[in-house]
Amino acid sequence: MKQKIVAGNWKMNTTPSEGTGLVASISRGLQERDDSVRVMVFPPLTHQAVVSPKCGQRIELGAQDCSQHPHGAYTGEVSAAMLKDCGCRLVIIGHSERRMYHGEDQEILSGKIAQALKSGLEIIFCVGEQESVRMQGEQAAWKHVQAQLELLTAFDKSLASSLIVAYEPIWAIGTGKTARPEDASWMCSNIDRWLEENLGAAGKDVPVLYGGSCNAKNAKELFAQPGVCGGLIGGASLKAEDFLQIIDSF
Ligand code: PGA
Repeated sequence: MKQKIVAGNWKMNTTPSEGTGLVASISRGLQERDDSVRVMVFPPLTHQAVVSPKCGQRIELGAQDCSQHPHGAYTGEVSAAMLKDCGCRLVIIGHSERRMYHGEDQEILSGKIAQALKSGLEIIFCVGEQESVRMQGEQAAWKHVQAQLELLTAFDKSLASSLIVAYEPIWAIGTGKTARPEDASWMCSNIDRWLEENLGAAGKDVPVLYGGSCNAKNAKELFAQPGVCGGLIGGASLKAEDFLQIIDSF
């Protein structure tokens, strides 16, 4: 059975005190709701220690990235073990902004996944194609996504129990150009099949999220699509009201 998930990727937004307020508002809103949806927030690293105690039982804390190294002379880096000790349960790996602006290739991403697994963090692994690839058609987009998924096959199949995949077409991120619900569904369903074929029986339960200009207005239609288990939300996760409305969209 696949879980329903709404995850807020705050990116480089809010100060720690603003973030604490945002988590408190989301938490208040969740008191009136059942726990059928897993709710996660991914604040910047400076927020982790202060936000963690405010998350309570209902909100799961995650980080937007971790190092591919366990420890050592890597100025500016933060390890998966440090995140775990701060109260983090999850980490996003392979977000397109990390791939693009920080040159994170398959080898680096493999190292990050290995560290996250070793530290007991769950992983949201992001995949998605550029606009130029999408223009070549859905098969080209799938080929691109499939190549990104390939690195998961180097790990033991038990990886599946710590894995969530987010399909985020790059042209939809922060642009207001949301993927058509049927396209999101087609891609998420392909990913579903790939996970089952490559990660065995446990791959069947790996949730697949959609991300890219998902908001309070379009979440309902997107989440109703076969293959879509929820969303990785950027901009619309920064307002408690919008984020709660997205949680209500199932
Ligand atoms: P967006 O970002 O919702 O602002 O498009 C999604 C993401 O990058 O995770």
